[in-house]
This record gives sequence, C-alpha cells and structure tokens, in this order.
Amino acid sequence: MSPIKNVNWQVNTEIVHTAQGPSKEGGMITQGLYPAVGYAFQSIEHAEAVVSGKEEGVHYGRYGNPTLKALEEKVAALEGGEAGLGLSSGMAAISSALLAFLKQGDHVICTKDIYGNTFKFLNTMAPRFGITSDFVDCTNSQEVEKAIRENTKVLFIETPSNPVLTVLDIEKLAIVAHKHGLKVIIDSTFMTPYLQKPLELGADLVVHSATKYLNGHGDVLAGIIVGSKKDVDNIRKNFMADLGQSLSAWDAFLVLRGLKTLGLRMEKHCQTALEVAEFLSSHPAIKKVYYPGLTTHPQYEVAQKQMKHSGGIVSFEVKGGLSAAKEMINALKLAFISFSLGDPETLVQHPASMTHAAIPAEERAKSKITDELIRLSVGLEDAKDIIDDLEQALSKAY
Ligand SMILES: Cc1ncc(COP(=O)(O)O)c(C=O)c1O
Repeated sequence: MSPIKNVNWQVNTEIVHTAQGPSKEGGMITQGLYPAVGYAFQSIEHAEAVVSGKEEGVHYGRYGNPTLKALEEKVAALEGGEAGLGLSSGMAAISSALLAFLKQGDHVICTKDIYGNTFKFLNTMAPRFGITSDFVDCTNSQEVEKAIRENTKVLFIETPSNPVLTVLDIEKLAIVAHKHGLKVIIDSTFMTPYLQKPLELGADLVVHSATKYLNGHGDVLAGIIVGSKKDVDNIRKNFMADLGQSLSAWDAFLVLRGLKTLGLRMEKHCQTALEVAEFLSSHPAIKKVYYPGLTTHPQYEVAQKQMKHSGGIVSFEVKGGLSAAKEMINALKLAFISFSLGDPETLVQHPASMTHAAIPAEERAKSKITDELIRLSVGLEDAKDIIDDLEQALSKAY
C-alpha cells in the first residue's frame, strides 16, 4: 500500500493515491472488497489482543472491515485527522458523534439553521435521555458565548448550512467553545475535504453525510466521522458498534470508487453553481439568492477565508409565495425533484415540504426556511442546460 500521506502531493494526487495502492497479494490497484463478518485468530491470546486494541485488526464485522478501513484512512488523511470512522448514514455519524460526548443532564449549543433530521434528533430523541439543546445564531460568536452554561458540552455546527447556506466562522467559534471546554463538531457535508478542512480550523470532529459529494453518485447511504484516534476509537467501540450503525464493505467500496473523482466533480459543481447563482440573481422573478460565492452573501468574507470554492448548492426564493414556488419546481424538466444532493444529476427540492418538514413552521421561519424557498443541488450537466431549464420553468410560472 502507498504511504498514508505524502506531504509533497497536490490535492488531486492525494485524493487518488492516499491510503490506497497495489495490494501485497497480486498487486491489485483497486481496493479489495472484503465482505467477511467473522475473522479467524491464531490463538485466544491473539483474539484477546485485537479485541482489547493492543493489536491492530478487526474482530467482528460490526466494528469494521478491511474495505471500510481503507475508506476510513483515506478520508482521515484528506481531512488531516488522525482517524476516521465509516457509518451507515450521515445521521448515524451525527448521532454517534453527539452521543459520544453527551450524557443525561448535558446541554448542546447547535447552530440555528441545521439539517432537518439533526434538529429532530436534538429536539425529540436526545431530550428523552435528558440532553437539552439551544439553537443559537452562530454567525455571532458573542451569542454563542452567552448561551454556554455550566452543563454545555458540545457546540454542533453545520457550515455552509442546509438549506440557506449560512457560513460560520469555524476558527472563531472553536476558540470560544474551547475556552469553555466544549467539544466542537462540524457537519461539513456541503464542502467535503476538497473545499474545507474544519480540523485545521480548530474543530474536534468533522462529520459527513458521505451519501452526498464524497460518494457523489447517488447510490450509497454512508456517513463518516474524522477526529483524534482516541475520540474515533471511543465512538467505534462504545457507540457506533453498540447502536449497529456500521457501513457495509460493498458501500465502503462504492464510496472509495466515487472519491477518486472528488476534485474534478467539486470543481465542476462549484463552477456551474456560481453561474446558476449569478443567473438567478439577475432574474426578475427571483426575490433572493443564497450562495456563498456571491459578493452579496452576508458571510462572503468568511467563506473566502475558509472555503476553497463555494460548493454546489444554490438556494433561492421566488416571488409569489408558496404556489409560485411549487409551480416553478413542477415546471422543471431537467432537474429531478429529490431529497438528496451532491449527485451528478441536478436535484431540486422544497425544504418546507421536504427536507425540513420535520421542523415546526415557526422554527423554520426563524431559520429563513420560507414557503417560497427552493434548494437546487447543481449537478454535473452543462451549465447552459441547467440554466435553460431554470429559465423555461420561471417563464412558465410567471
Ligand atoms: C448537511 C447534511 N447533514 C447530514 C445529512 C444526513 O445524511 P444521511 O441522509 O446520509 O443520513 C444530510 C442529508 O441530507 C445533510 O444534508
């Protein structure tokens, strides 16, 4: 296997080669797929050493497998973390990462606009176990500091946020949180390590829905956590495995395959998304465009500081309220109406009725998720075709 990380490699070489290489058996360049659940040991002592962690190895499929290990090492290297953990979905990564640092009586500060199911987890499941949360405007680090209580243990943020692309200053927030001994967990799904490195900016753990850009082909549900070896080992052994959230070898293999083109895909998503955002900004039927690459974005400076480019998601409000938004979405011909994002196909969705329907309407309003808000995951098609589709749908709706 090639070295985990060669410091002289540029990013695309790193993406292709890091933690992956010809196998000792047969020189296979492609990562082997090992679906084994059980592993044979040379002796009871050997089994004991692996289970206790004294020796490297896998003892049972619920704790990992060699294909998954290759994925975990690759994403950990790309994020600049010590260790990675592959899980069965982004929500598995988020729930396990949060539970690892929380117990009954603890408190979480979470950014206001957050993926709908993260909000639901913190608002419905976590309180059943005595964990409370406050949803705070994290664009203002003073607000965050004011919300910290004696029992606050975690600051959880998502940047840019889903769906209104609020950008949070990771470095600034990590300083405030660490001053009070909080763990900082960042959902970096919209960025991937190609565009943003939260650990280098001070985060303790980065979580991803690998279902999205990391895999990039819309055919796998997966999650990844990256952080210190100590934290990742703890989550693997005491949370992920006990909750049964492991990722299968088949799915890990597909994410590894998708990852190889991450750089190419992200460049194209970002370039087209900027063109789409500029087109929408100048269209008379559009009320508002959310895209961190537009100079009009309220956190444009922060985005420029911590993100390589601005990502593939563009959200916008149409004039004319709910019926106009629905009409516009229904008139699109190229874009598919779908919940996911980060796929080769352009996907469109209505957050208030789809991804963020789990959030009560009054809470949605506080997070700018209005009835006329539309989220577009800009695909890998040619920019002209995506823009032509938007134009014909807008002209039909108005
Ligand atoms: C930002 C973000 N985080 C987490 C998730 C959850 O990921 P998964 O669907 O893989 O559980 C999503 C899903 O859309 C997301 O957009």
